[in-house]
Amino acid sequence: MAVRATHGILSDELREQREQIVGLLEKAYWMEIETVMNYVAGSTNPDGVRAQEVIEALRDDIQEELGHAQQFATRIKELYGVVPGSLAFEAEQRSLQPPEQQTDIVHVIKGVIEAETGAIEHYNRIIEATDEVDWVTQDVVIQILHDEEGHRRLFEGFLREYEAEGRA
Ligand SMILES: [Fe+2]
Ligand SMILES: [Fe+2]
Repeated sequence: MAVRATHGILSDELREQREQIVGLLEKAYWMEIETVMNYVAGSTNPDGVRAQEVIEALRDDIQEELGHAQQFATRIKELYGVVPGSLAFEAEQRSLQPPEQQTDIVHVIKGVIEAETGAIEHYNRIIEATDEVDWVTQDVVIQILHDEEGHRRLFEGFLREYEAEGRA
């Protein structure tokens, strides 16, 4: 029995593609971590009667996004990568920064939609990059993509309500 994988994404032959996939997974990992940070803030800061639905939804999402970060970390390790430490982190989610007024729920909703859209775009990229090369990563990312599409749709629904009232 061979000690090293002779074919598939763990083989020496596919080293270059494997490292490229690990790079994409690291970016995905950071996106999830940053989302957790901003959803903790976004589920705490808002004021107002109508903020409560958004707060509840974001609280639920925090657990899911943390689970995604852990799934990406696991897959990075399985592909012989090393999960990075916090000093390698670079923040990117400008639209998820707290609004000036904490009753500005539309700001939070739009920030969430933008973050989810960014994740959806990046995960589609990973699904394409892993096609016929790394089925397991592709399968993991397809399931996570499903969650993000659900999150995006939920917040689009919140935004529609404000749009219907001419407040967004
Ligand atoms: Fe996520
Ligand atoms: Fe999400």
